[in-house]
Amino acid sequence: MEKVICLGIEATAEKLGIGILDSEGNILANRTKHQPLKGGIHPREAAQHHAENLRPLLDLALQDAGLAMGDIELIAFSRGPGMGPCLRVAAVAARTLSLKHGIPLVGVNHCIGHIEIGRLKTEAKDPLTLYVSGGNTQVIAFEGGRYRVFGETLDIAIGNCIDQFARNLDLGAPGGPVVERLARKGSYVPLPYTVKGMDLSFSGLLTAATGAARTEGNRIEDVCFSLQETAFAMITEVTERALAHTEKEEVLMAGGVAVNSRLQEMVRTMARERGAGFFVPPGDVLGDNGAMIAWTGILMHRSGITHRLEETRVEQRYRTDQVEVTWR
Ligand code: ATP
Ligand code: FE2
Repeated sequence: MEKVICLGIEATAEKLGIGILDSEGNILANRTKHQPLKGGIHPREAAQHHAENLRPLLDLALQDAGLAMGDIELIAFSRGPGMGPCLRVAAVAARTLSLKHGIPLVGVNHCIGHIEIGRLKTEAKDPLTLYVSGGNTQVIAFEGGRYRVFGETLDIAIGNCIDQFARNLDLGAPGGPVVERLARKGSYVPLPYTVKGMDLSFSGLLTAATGAARTEGNRIEDVCFSLQETAFAMITEVTERALAHTEKEEVLMAGGVAVNSRLQEMVRTMARERGAGFFVPPGDVLGDNGAMIAWTGILMHRSGITHRLEETRVEQRYRTDQVEVTWR
């Protein structure tokens, strides 16, 4: 098969990513740049940050790969889901580069990007994927030609829940690592556990945890511990039921929250008890990154997909199961 070099542009939220991959799956460059966090994410400010940093980050990525724009044979970008203003920066850059250099263009579903890079960088072949991040919480598996969602949050994402909790208590941003550290020295205080069928809800837990942390006599370590135990047990329960239902034999973790060692421990234990394999990709491809978009672009392109300009509109609510998976 002919070797193809793909440039991937990722900008769904506060992080900008540029990745360069070849069609054998070698990551030639994978640069990311964060908008400095102060309070919550402001979509327009994040988009401004991405617009200002895209060119310099692209130059760095090309330098890392030892390539020039003329060597790029395919361009992939995140079409969604994500924040409109951020998505549009990546889409406009991708279209412009495509037109200027005459390079074919592919729009990628961000959630599927997480799954495909996980399949590339681990031994997982046909996993049930637990995708947990600041903006997403989904349990996904391949069935009947699509990646189907078997469980998801009904309100906020798990990462958003933890970040917001940390922000409410001035613990710093992002909250994930801080809460994980504090939780190591904590013990249990009761918090509400909300699983509805196969779906999850974190907003009540966020309110209750914030209230508990502000209550006289409660230690912050204990609330952090219970927030993690409760939220992660909910996630593990839904993942286990989806594993039983789909009869998949592997669990793959994806998204920024997947670095959490307590969550990994709970899901790994559950997977082992069911005789399923457990996989976590390396840290540089776990959170949002350009390489996952480039790799998914290569898979799509190889299966015959190229998008015409008018097919590259961004989709803020781009559903995982909206995409017909032509490459598996
Ligand atoms: P997406 O656009 O896919 O929703 P994102 O913008 O949230 O992704 P990621 O890098 O995938 O970006 O994830 C960031 C999230 O990961 C934040 O919510 C952060 O708090 C969380 N996180 C980082 N480290 C940890 C940790 N050790 N424990 C729990 N959560 C963590
Ligand atoms: Fe993501």
